[in-house]
Amino acid sequence: MTADEPIFSHTWDGRHVGISIFEIWDRIRTVTESPRKILEVGSFEGYSTSAMIRLFADRSPIEITCIDSWAGAILFDERVDPTHEARFDANVAIAVRKAENPVQLRKIKSDSFRAMASLIHEGESESFDWIYVDGSHEAKDVFLDAAGAFRLLKRGGILIFDDYLWNDPLAKGGHVNQTPKPAIDAFVKIFYDQLTVFAGAGLWQMYLRKN
Ligand SMILES: C[S@@+](CC[C@H](N)C(=O)[O-])C[C@H]1O[C@@H](n2cnc3c(N)ncnc32)[C@H](O)[C@@H]1O
Repeated sequence: MTADEPIFSHTWDGRHVGISIFEIWDRIRTVTESPRKILEVGSFEGYSTSAMIRLFADRSPIEITCIDSWAGAILFDERVDPTHEARFDANVAIAVRKAENPVQLRKIKSDSFRAMASLIHEGESESFDWIYVDGSHEAKDVFLDAAGAFRLLKRGGILIFDDYLWNDPLAKGGHVNQTPKPAIDAFVKIFYDQLTVFAGAGLWQMYLRKN
């Protein structure tokens, strides 16, 4: 292992369902211009961040904003701890260094809704080409993330929710509102006339375009 290789404790890359996240995202980006201004909600150790850097910096310089509280997630029995944030820093530094074009990376350590409200307040509404939401998996939080993301997304931009079909808490007797699906369904229903859903996309993710 060299200092130029990232280290991840978890990699949610779709291999378990036989499709690579790179292939799907590469296909999705063909419906729009390749994204240059990207927002990620939920960066953890930087696996998906690094994937987006590798994929999207292939054609042009990109800007990527990464929001994470690095303060805990219901996906894990253990809480997200400082080692995960340190790994994020190290892993994305490697991805930026290896990128084919310059990458401007902005890290925002914060609750996601607060961070998105600040971006809106600072005049970044409708400026992002691609937003990937993979933060809290509690429906109430996902609903707020969806609202913030919708405001920040450009017309024609892509909005992806990870774990649309994730349902682990249900098997453990949890409430459906401990999963993202009710929030994403409510959001899509309410904004149906300003969104296009890409049917048939894999990886349990929800792929949307803002009309
Ligand atoms: C499933 S992980 C993200 C995985 C990451 N996208 C990857 O591919 O490695 C979820 C992340 O969301 C963060 N998170 C959970 N709730 C949050 C909130 N309300 N605001 C900001 N970040 C949050 C957690 O700290 C955790 O790092």
